[in-house]
Amino acid sequence: MHKDVAEILISEEQIQARCKELGKELTDYYKDKNLTLIGLLKGSVPFMVDLMKCIDLDLQIDFMDVSSYSGTDSQEVRILKDVECSITDRDVLIVEDIIDTGKTLEAVVQLLYSKGARNVKIVTLLDKPEGRTVNMNADFVGFKVPNKFVIGYGLDYNQKYRNLPYVGVIKKEAI
Ligand code: IMP
Ligand code: MG
Repeated sequence: MHKDVAEILISEEQIQARCKELGKELTDYYKDKNLTLIGLLKGSVPFMVDLMKCIDLDLQIDFMDVSSYSGTDSQEVRILKDVECSITDRDVLIVEDIIDTGKTLEAVVQLLYSKGARNVKIVTLLDKPEGRTVNMNADFVGFKVPNKFVIGYGLDYNQKYRNLPYVGVIKKEAI
């Protein structure tokens, strides 16, 4: 275990097993649709890689990088990297690492509909329900986590720890 990790919340084995379950669920849900996975950089990368291999359908993948901030009266997202493939009339599934306040996903969902997506849904590895400040929920959730700062498997603190194969709680001394 990494020296800055206080406790492992979700092991590598648990993540792999859950990806298989979610993959089956998604394969069934999207079997008669036109699936495009859109991963939000950078946190979703490990989850995207593992999850896509568990979906037994023809699909396309793309990535977006957004930074979200509060504007004067609404949440705005700045697009650092936009999608490259056309999503017009496609069924889009956003792949995210964690949903906390819900603001980032609220803005990204709106943005993808404005680009002509037929349907936009969300799969998130982690859900922190206690953090929510807007009415936004994921359609498919890997694991619920408590209101603690978690790292690993894509999730960072100051760009560090994304390469850990598990999800853990960061030690207070490391912050
Ligand atoms: P929100 O739902 O708009 O608050 O934003 C979610 C984003 O905040 C995620 O994509 C992460 O990048 C980041 N985030 C939220 N909670 C955590 C955490 O516990 N560890 C690492 N990043 C987090
Ligand atoms: Mg993120």
